[in-house]
Amino acid sequence: MQIVSSQISIEKTSHSRIKEQDINNSPFGKVFSDHMLVANYLDGSWQEVKIIPYGNISMSPSMSALHYGQTVFEGLKAYRNPIGKPLLFRPEANYKRINESAFRLCMPPVPEDIFMDGLKELIRLDADWIPTQSGSVLYIRPIYFATDESVGLKPASSYKFIIISCPVGAYYSEPVKLIVTDKYVRAAEGGTGAAKCGGNYGGSLLADKEAKQQGYDNVLWLDGKQKKYIEECGTMNVAFLINDVVITPKLTGTILPGITRDSVLTLFKDMGVKVQERLISIDEVADAYQEGSLSEAFGMGTAATIAHISTINYQGRDMILPPVSERKYAPKILQQLEDIKTGKVTDPYGWVCQL
Ligand code: COI
Repeated sequence: MQIVSSQISIEKTSHSRIKEQDINNSPFGKVFSDHMLVANYLDGSWQEVKIIPYGNISMSPSMSALHYGQTVFEGLKAYRNPIGKPLLFRPEANYKRINESAFRLCMPPVPEDIFMDGLKELIRLDADWIPTQSGSVLYIRPIYFATDESVGLKPASSYKFIIISCPVGAYYSEPVKLIVTDKYVRAAEGGTGAAKCGGNYGGSLLADKEAKQQGYDNVLWLDGKQKKYIEECGTMNVAFLINDVVITPKLTGTILPGITRDSVLTLFKDMGVKVQERLISIDEVADAYQEGSLSEAFGMGTAATIAHISTINYQGRDMILPPVSERKYAPKILQQLEDIKTGKVTDPYGWVCQL
């Protein structure tokens, strides 16, 4: 056991699994790196923080997160720069957001040194798991959940914070086809839509399943009150190019404040493209399609980065968007973002964190 800081101890695996894996060709989220970080919170204080071999954790069947969903998570990625050194993209933004999510779920904040120092130590240790092939990266998943052994409903007094990571390829191999749903909603005013909590994702699965049964990849979510304004697509933020203006739903409290969303909007603005964060109705998008002024649509999220949208089904009719090869904006921004993340170009924003 090695003690790397006053708080973090490391127990290295005696058997690395990396040679048994093709890390440049792993399916999304199925293969996990050698180590994980685990920190426990009990009755008002954080206990020892450990980096240990990746493995199962034991839990009581009465563990409260399983019953009442006091559980939040994050997603971020590690890249290699052109000389192979590991880089993280905007980890402070994930640190900030996990605590905003935790606040909404009535959970105590994760301290910065546990999140940030623990994350860096873990990824330094498992840096060999960062794929070398372009298009593949190391996806990092911090999770934080209540561990009280109790079926009484109340904010728990014990919690576990874990970070695991997995080498992944592209989340979507093709542009995505969406279907507008007014049968289900993802979030309602005053709900948990802006938090990255497990329940939001569990609650989206039936809509997603039905979309797939109808031949689409994901749903395009509308607001919970009027079923009129676009909110997100699948598990991503969404944007449209109409008359050369990027229009994306504004963060009303029902939408996840995406880190990729923020990065993409920043790059568009700095490229001199007009960006509007405002309410955008599905009818406005359908009218723009009809007039020929809707040139692009895309989802934004950590896993997919930018997912080009090829089709939007609304009221039984497919709106088919121009092929990606004819798109002027999103492919360029995606390339610029990837170049920043992989250290191929200088990062004027301070987003890239060297390990
Ligand atoms: C992400 O984009 O990182 C997410 O958290 C979505 C998840 C369903 C992979």
